[in-house]
Amino acid sequence: MNILAFESSCDETAVAVVRDGREVLSDVILSQADMHAIYGGVVPEIASRRHVEAIAGLADEALQKAKITRGEVDAVAVTYAPGLIGAVLVGVNFAKSAAYALGVPLIPVHHIRGHIAANYIAFPELEPPFLALCASGGNTLLVDVRGYTDMEIVGGTRDDAAGECFDKAARVLGLPYPGGRPIDELAQGSAGGVYDLPRARIDGAPLDMSFSGLKTAVVNLAHNAEQKGETLDRAALARDFVRAVSDELVPRTMEAARICGRKTIAAAGGVAANSILRADLVRACEKAGCRLYLPPLSLCGDNGAMIGAQGYYEYRSGAAADLSLNAFATRDIAKTAAKD
Ligand code: KG4
Repeated sequence: MNILAFESSCDETAVAVVRDGREVLSDVILSQADMHAIYGGVVPEIASRRHVEAIAGLADEALQKAKITRGEVDAVAVTYAPGLIGAVLVGVNFAKSAAYALGVPLIPVHHIRGHIAANYIAFPELEPPFLALCASGGNTLLVDVRGYTDMEIVGGTRDDAAGECFDKAARVLGLPYPGGRPIDELAQGSAGGVYDLPRARIDGAPLDMSFSGLKTAVVNLAHNAEQKGETLDRAALARDFVRAVSDELVPRTMEAARICGRKTIAAAGGVAANSILRADLVRACEKAGCRLYLPPLSLCGDNGAMIGAQGYYEYRSGAAADLSLNAFATRDIAKTAAKD
């Protein structure tokens, strides 16, 4: 089954063709990051307009690269939630038109389910159940993946996403947007241990996290140093910051796996590209005797292939939508578009 898949929930316009959920025939991505970098973050209106300009051309390119004709498309999948609403709407509307014109089913895909499914592309042997750590620019969740379309959130951030925290910390460190990778690289140059940054603990909710205090602490450190004319050890601050993020994510991931009775863990989302986080997860999983799946860096960030992969399993579970499908800025990962 060839699925033409669209992703436009933030600042990447991405289109892919995926066969039977696991084989990527093409995966084209147009990142707008440079365009938003001058503002220090994504400007929703600009993102939507750029998606409108790019999506049709990318769809043609994805079909050409996949070496299939329009007639060989069996279904169209699209991210319908969560994300910047104007941006998601562009993908949903284009996908509806494509499904209508081609006379094929339209499959709505939850963006975070897509991030999890990136692992199915990278690891053919991986099947649910497993515990997923999903950490991206807009979401940070611990998900018990019981089946391909049967998921439950067991923990997550109460405020900012881990990626948002990376991007804001990067800004005060004078690094470009998006800040995750530059902080990762800067942190490599120091052993850290210089700055005492907070770790959040939420009473009665051991699997929940908070990143806003950490974000504020880094911002305050940078501003105080500036006011006093002191020079920050930027590499050490980057290192101590990443350590603090990893300290939020890794122990809770392991605890969630223990509580859910899972011995398999998969990471997902842009923040899962972080080298220190990946190394910490490897160590923690070795210690706990868990099997760990870390997607390649190319599949951590937003892409269309992950939507095509998850779309296949959504279709098999009967989650096709009609042309009244709407887009949502927020949506529980446990809900399917078709059900309510
Ligand atoms: O999954 P993603 O591409 O988009 C969303 O669905 O949100 O994640 C983007 C986020 C950004 O906040 C970016 O700074 C972060 O992932 N990121 C990283 C790294 N690479 C990207 N964070 C930490 N370390 C990295 N190496």
